[in-house]
Amino acid sequence: MSAPIAPAEAARLKALPKAEVHLHLEGCFEAALIAQWAQTEGVALPRPQEDLFKFSGLADFLGFLDLACGLARTQDRLVELSYGLSQRLAANGTGYADVIFNPTHWHVWHGRLGPMLDAIHAGFTAAEQDGLPGVGLCVSLLRTQSANEAIELLDALTTLRHPRVVALSVDGNEATAGRTGPRFAEAFRKAGSAGLRRTVHAGESSGPEGVWDAVDLLGADRIDHGVRAIEDPALVQMLADRQIPLGVCPTSNLVLGVYPSIEAHPIERLRLAGVRVSLNTDDPALPGASLVGEYALCRRAFGWTDEVTREVARTSIEASFANGDVKAGLLERLKVW
Ligand code: ADE
Ligand code: ZN
Repeated sequence: MSAPIAPAEAARLKALPKAEVHLHLEGCFEAALIAQWAQTEGVALPRPQEDLFKFSGLADFLGFLDLACGLARTQDRLVELSYGLSQRLAANGTGYADVIFNPTHWHVWHGRLGPMLDAIHAGFTAAEQDGLPGVGLCVSLLRTQSANEAIELLDALTTLRHPRVVALSVDGNEATAGRTGPRFAEAFRKAGSAGLRRTVHAGESSGPEGVWDAVDLLGADRIDHGVRAIEDPALVQMLADRQIPLGVCPTSNLVLGVYPSIEAHPIERLRLAGVRVSLNTDDPALPGASLVGEYALCRRAFGWTDEVTREVARTSIEASFANGDVKAGLLERLKVW
């Protein structure tokens, strides 16, 4: 799936000033770390360590996240994970990231959102103090939650007003949850009023209708995935007209079986239709997912020139929820890449 990248190309793509706007804290566990924590806790792994990241699809993968996150039982482990994520960002030359964090996967922490956010914040703050990239947190609902649970989360966020949190998000499996836009509309409306940005998973496990709902009912500033919008020309036109950016994750889509090959992936058709697309890893622990690798993959598959590469990187920065200074700094550096 991922051919090796020539060292010179990898170095150039690492040097490309860029943001990552679609990756999950839950998707950052290394297999070795999971194995080590599982052994310490006496938890049995579902398969041998070398096969741990072999998934049959999104549902299988989401179940695995529950197991992995269930092992992060202490504040120290959350600090270690967040710091490790920042190191991974730096290794790819990422200047800033919006990181999705879904409290539902972390069973041991249920009912303790404040301490959990504090621990994650401590990891990212230590990383920033060590010169690693800045991170904003997008706190996420799971698609299968109820309207009441959504309002509860939103109320907790507005009470906490945590300095690390920049956005409300929703992720999970729309194929099993069905149409849930109406269920979450009120929480997303309140998030907007509270000054939070809004990002919505859609058009991965849902078709175009999920993307329409994300925009019409949830007021999405950005769509995570959104690629199945390609199935509805009117939707493609609307996304292009309104310049609503998509956080696209080609390798994740291939590994989790949304598309059979990079050639079949619609990112290039969306881009050519005027839709703003950025490149992201989604879950960096998935086999073959790295931000440099995503750029290399698309350059090779679609013949992207440096100009196109720069345009996609610009979208990643502009679509991010970074503050104005961070964006301006990255955009300035991008001009001379
Ligand atoms: N949570 C983590 N990764 C996800 C994905 N690819 N789709 C939906 N929810 C997720
Ligand atoms: Zn995602």
